[in-house]
Amino acid sequence: MSKPVILNIAPIPAFLQKSLESEFDLRTLDTLGDAAGISGLVSSAIRGVDRATLDRLPDLKVMSIFGVGTDKVDLAAARSRGIRVGYTPDILNDCVADLAIGLMIAVSRKIPQADGYVRSSLWAETGKVFELGDRVSGKRMGIVGFGRIGRIIAKRLAGFDAEIRYFSRSEVPGCPYERVPDLPALAAWCDYLFISVSGSAETRHLIDAGVLEALGPRGYLINVARGSVVDEQALMAALENQTIRGAALDVYEVEPLNSPRLAGLRNTVLLPHVSSATNETRTAMSDMVVANLKRFYAGESMLAEVA
Ligand code: 8YV
Repeated sequence: MSKPVILNIAPIPAFLQKSLESEFDLRTLDTLGDAAGISGLVSSAIRGVDRATLDRLPDLKVMSIFGVGTDKVDLAAARSRGIRVGYTPDILNDCVADLAIGLMIAVSRKIPQADGYVRSSLWAETGKVFELGDRVSGKRMGIVGFGRIGRIIAKRLAGFDAEIRYFSRSEVPGCPYERVPDLPALAAWCDYLFISVSGSAETRHLIDAGVLEALGPRGYLINVARGSVVDEQALMAALENQTIRGAALDVYEVEPLNSPRLAGLRNTVLLPHVSSATNETRTAMSDMVVANLKRFYAGESMLAEVA
């Protein structure tokens, strides 16, 4: 029996590319030619799948997304054509939460700047004590969105003797932390505001000028969720005017980020969307992308399918 024909449209790890090649007849946009007969599509959460791509693939039956976020996947168009959508939830939660903690410490203790100070030989040349950072442990932590990743961030933060509160649509049953139903009130209370909601029309610019003003000149913003959740113009103004203390970001409104304005700010730590980018997690995600497709073609339920 011939192998199902799959199209990949995203940058994916070499090990995923190899597994897909061994299991399927894998095409890329460069080698696409005639799109007829392509029944499976691989993309990433960052690349997504738009309607124009779907319109080019008349025989598409299944998509397998490398990632958990489906904000860039046209789910409505997929649904209207009965195209099934697999994705990779949960297996990346730990690494995303780990990176949120890393960002918190990096921006507060100025780790990238301090590293640059040593590498540039400025320390050796001047012998000057590097500028002071801010203490992390014992601080007030606000978590926006208390889903699976938000709860793991809280678990990690508990180790910092921190006081933790969260903002979410509804109370999380059995949760030991206080829910603050008013986002500006949570921002005003906390020293660190962690973003861990998924990107959607509903969460777009949830972190606006008002929330940043409430966070105030001692507050830090940490975003490992989606750039769309933060009004980046308002954030840059707040950072420039030092009406917030700093921001550590892994995600942006437009990626890859090309913002000299944001990059020129010293009170930031900027990462290139790498919260799930560990060998272990990206291997697990790759395995799940392949397993979802294999199971679909075997007539079985996928390991994780978007409802
Ligand atoms: C990945 C992500 O960086 O899962 C998500 O929603 O944004 C990330 O895990 C991405 O899918 C890899 O391209």
